[in-house]
Amino acid sequence: MQYDKKSIENISVSQKKALVRCDFNVPQDDTGAITADKRIVESLPTLKYLLEHGAAVIACSHLGRPKGTFDPKYSLAPVAKRLEELLGRPVIFAKDVVGEDAKAKAAALKPGEIMLLENVRYHAEEEKNDPAFAKQLAALADIFVNDAFGTAHRAHASTAGIADYLPAVCGFLIQKEIGVMGRALQNPKRPFVAILGGAKVSDKIGVINNLVEKCDTIIIGGAMAYTFKKACGRPIGKSRCEEDKLDLAKELVLKAVGLGVHFYLPGDHVVGDHFGPDAAAHTVRHIPAEMMGMDIGPATTSRYVREIMKAGTVVWNGPMGVFEFPDFAEGTKMIARAMSKSDAISIVGGGDSAAAAELFGFADRMDHVSTGGGASLEFLEGLELPGIACLQDK
Ligand code: 3PG
Repeated sequence: MQYDKKSIENISVSQKKALVRCDFNVPQDDTGAITADKRIVESLPTLKYLLEHGAAVIACSHLGRPKGTFDPKYSLAPVAKRLEELLGRPVIFAKDVVGEDAKAKAAALKPGEIMLLENVRYHAEEEKNDPAFAKQLAALADIFVNDAFGTAHRAHASTAGIADYLPAVCGFLIQKEIGVMGRALQNPKRPFVAILGGAKVSDKIGVINNLVEKCDTIIIGGAMAYTFKKACGRPIGKSRCEEDKLDLAKELVLKAVGLGVHFYLPGDHVVGDHFGPDAAAHTVRHIPAEMMGMDIGPATTSRYVREIMKAGTVVWNGPMGVFEFPDFAEGTKMIARAMSKSDAISIVGGGDSAAAAELFGFADRMDHVSTGGGASLEFLEGLELPGIACLQDK
């Protein structure tokens, strides 16, 4: 994929209406209160730049998966409020997306003013990448700025289709995400270490397949490690295992070995007798039949930490254990800690690993924590992301 995309700095934005696709898909509690605003905060440099350079900003996003219906639970109204607080200026909120309210407010919008449209997924046409809907969105503005890295893996009307109708460039967040992760994939400072965890081998096949050709070392943790262990003939007790992926796991190990990549699986484990925060934690080398692995053990953690400290670049995607349960959080916490302390370029893929880095207080000390969950995974798989491919090349 071509990473060198034109940004808002490469075009004239003054006196233009800019439709800015953000990823404001933020977590909320039962009352609708936003519980983590990283994605809104990360959109600010782009929005501020446009406003300060004389553009009128029409921001848009999805929130959740309302599946094409107007459901107030998924309204972006709370996001408009938070954005207003963070920007320190009024954010005009449209009650619809391409309806009368949005059209009137967009038409009246002046340079230096910002408005936010309602949830683009209130229209089923959004996820279908419907050209007529993309055209209606485009009609609100003069230029399209995509800054929604977290949604860049979706070929939707507001992330990709719209680029057929407007000059399309990226904002600073997409520029940063593809810059840092693109450099790591194309020209990493070595040794290049990938730490891959999470529940399922099946979720990470593409990433392992791609990274095995680029990395010097691959470190495996999380529940998917037990599928690999079983594939290598080791006892895994009641640990989670994808039986239908055993052959594939073996193939991936053999591919790594064939390419001369160091491929590490956990050698000791923190186990419990059931999956729950109250399970009594024990450290073992061989998992007994009645136990399940829920974290990497201390010897494995030390070995992995040593690899991280020697690395030139570290990319981490997926927790090492059930970090939500305090007795099984140590492996994940120590990996995050080592990354934050090492001199390596430290890159945390979005989703669970980003949440863990945040929870343990190490996120601020990483070189980069991606705002994309599925998007960063697909990026690391080397796939073309439609929301980036549609933007103008430099
Ligand atoms: C995310 O949270 O990963 C993005 O906002 C994309 O959301 P989606 O998986 O509903 O497309």
